[in-house]
Amino acid sequence: MSEKAKLQEILARIEAANAAYHERDAPEISDAEYDAIRREAEAILAVHPEWRDMAGALAEVGARPASGFKKVRHRTPMLSLENVFSGEEFEEFWRGKKRFLGYGGAWEFVAEPKIDGLSISLTYEGRRLVRAATRGDGAEGEDVTANILTLDVPRALPEDAPDFIEIRGEVYMTKADFMALNASQERQFANPRNAAAGSLRQLDASITAKRKLSLFAYAQGETSTPVAETHWEYLATLRRWGFLVNPLSKLVAEDGAEAFQDGIGTQRAALPYDIDGVVYKVNDLRLQSRLGFVGRAPRWACAWKFPAEKASTVLEDIEIQVGRTGALTPRARLKPVNVGGVLVTYATLHNEDEIARKNVRIGDVVELQRAGDVIPQILRVLKHGGGPAFKFPDHCPVCGSLAVRTDDDVVRRCTGGLSCPAQVVERLIHFCSRGAFDIEGMGEKTVQEFYEAGWLHNAADVFTLPGHEAEIAAREGWGPVSAAKLSAAIAARREIGLERFIYALGIRRIGENNAKLLARHYGSYAAWKAGMEAAVVIGSDARLELGSISGIGPAIASDLAAFFAEAHNLQTLAALEREVRVLDAASAAAVDSPFAGKVMVFTGTLSMARPEAKARAEALGAKVTESVSKKTDFVVVGEDAGSKAKKAAELGIRTLTEEEFREMAGF
Ligand code: IVH
Repeated sequence: MSEKAKLQEILARIEAANAAYHERDAPEISDAEYDAIRREAEAILAVHPEWRDMAGALAEVGARPASGFKKVRHRTPMLSLENVFSGEEFEEFWRGKKRFLGYGGAWEFVAEPKIDGLSISLTYEGRRLVRAATRGDGAEGEDVTANILTLDVPRALPEDAPDFIEIRGEVYMTKADFMALNASQERQFANPRNAAAGSLRQLDASITAKRKLSLFAYAQGETSTPVAETHWEYLATLRRWGFLVNPLSKLVAEDGAEAFQDGIGTQRAALPYDIDGVVYKVNDLRLQSRLGFVGRAPRWACAWKFPAEKASTVLEDIEIQVGRTGALTPRARLKPVNVGGVLVTYATLHNEDEIARKNVRIGDVVELQRAGDVIPQILRVLKHGGGPAFKFPDHCPVCGSLAVRTDDDVVRRCTGGLSCPAQVVERLIHFCSRGAFDIEGMGEKTVQEFYEAGWLHNAADVFTLPGHEAEIAAREGWGPVSAAKLSAAIAARREIGLERFIYALGIRRIGENNAKLLARHYGSYAAWKAGMEAAVVIGSDARLELGSISGIGPAIASDLAAFFAEAHNLQTLAALEREVRVLDAASAAAVDSPFAGKVMVFTGTLSMARPEAKARAEALGAKVTESVSKKTDFVVVGEDAGSKAKKAAELGIRTLTEEEFREMAGF
């Protein structure tokens, strides 16, 4: 059966299940089965986003809520590691193992940085990736195949790979991508590990696709034929098969572990990703199998953890920042202090209640910690400085409006709305940011600068900036070239997909995920707006419809209604309508991409199957052809490419590596 026919069949089953459940209130299949078929459909759609408009049943109002992911039992359990925290404990651990084996030789270890992410097991059957599962409780995890397909992991293994093999590794997000993600949304992840887990465990895999996740492979599960005799050789094999293996991994002798530990400890702060220690594994796999397991951990490996990075310093001030939704967030300004190689000047204080709970006051000496978390946390007060208890402001420090807390909210919010400059600037920054209008050059600094120049009062004013091009060119730090570039970047964004448009408005609790649900449900800007305006009335059919969209619910519906109840928001929308064209949900992807309307050719061997590459490009608006001609815009060149790559070079056509193609395509 073709993939498309399979999808159609699954969708028909979902539709029937929806009807049985809702219309007849007589479910015919279990929740687990229902989730499983939904996941199957999502997995196909992750590879063929162009078929999403067939998938109405998935987004149907009142579709059965997906209670989660399909459960997967691991053939070989996914274990944890015993931790040691010092050289003495490390030696003691391995002395015990020599006693256990009656082994008199010296160990040879493979030392690998212990990545702070989430572990994943990839199953290949017939050398094709068939399943990806989280660790779960070690025995049973969740099926995240559709999500993992959005990462750069081999879909297929070469001929020399076993027929059946489980490969394990860690999915992680870099510190930089974690910061960028938090900066782009209201939901704040505490650290890159949480961000990676939250991004991977999305029922809608297209959200995972937008997050930058990677996987370091480092362990084996079950295999039909052994792959190597040593772990080091196993890692080399994984590299050859196309997996990313941590380049800092190293063979170390027994007496070399301490030096390695120190060396990695020194590099830790500068690494692009978080690590919390080093894993030492016995290299010889025969020795590994003789050592075996105790409880839930192997005897052949241990994790030598770094001590938590703590320091103490003086809290110089508590500053209140105002976000785009008016949230007043406190942060501690500290006397600069070095914590594990990073100079720290700010720490988070979370919210008003946290300050009271810890009784933190200006002038206190506080203890802080960076443990996996990029942003340090204040653990406790070591010594009070004699200052008064901190009084959280009840007025916005930026505009002076009243700041209030409603019952269900730990956050105090400024009531100034768009008369509050902090909210306006933050909203404008959000409006121009990557997941929203994505206007190159309109970062924080520029938005602030033009706001202060008096050119930006609301979002629609962004599109009037080209009218100030001459004045911009004359400003310090600008010139005719950069001003013209900015005008061009703005002009390029006068068409936008509905979901990005909704997200760009910065409505409370409408992040990318919810924007997508709304866009899919309403389809067009006109339908969405009409629905929202009608939903302002509590109890109206439109409000009920909105609240019953799976994933939206009544609380978010009331946030949306609140936005539409404000006259100035309606004015902004009317002004935006004059400046931009909002495309219907279905055609959005094809217009936002650099491949829209372009003619493309794929040649050579790619890591993804050719039909997938073609489908991805077409979904982004490209026309894919077989042969290179003067009309070709891009040639994506895989390995061992032959005459087509040569012809592209002769004709001066732009060639892309697979990696560049993926980057531009955003997956
Ligand atoms: S080996 C049976 N190697 O640490 C051994 N684990 O505390 C299985 N981890 O659940 C794990 N980097 O999530 C191994 N290079 C590495 C690792 C690593 C990170 C994580 C993994 C595991 C946890 C155990």
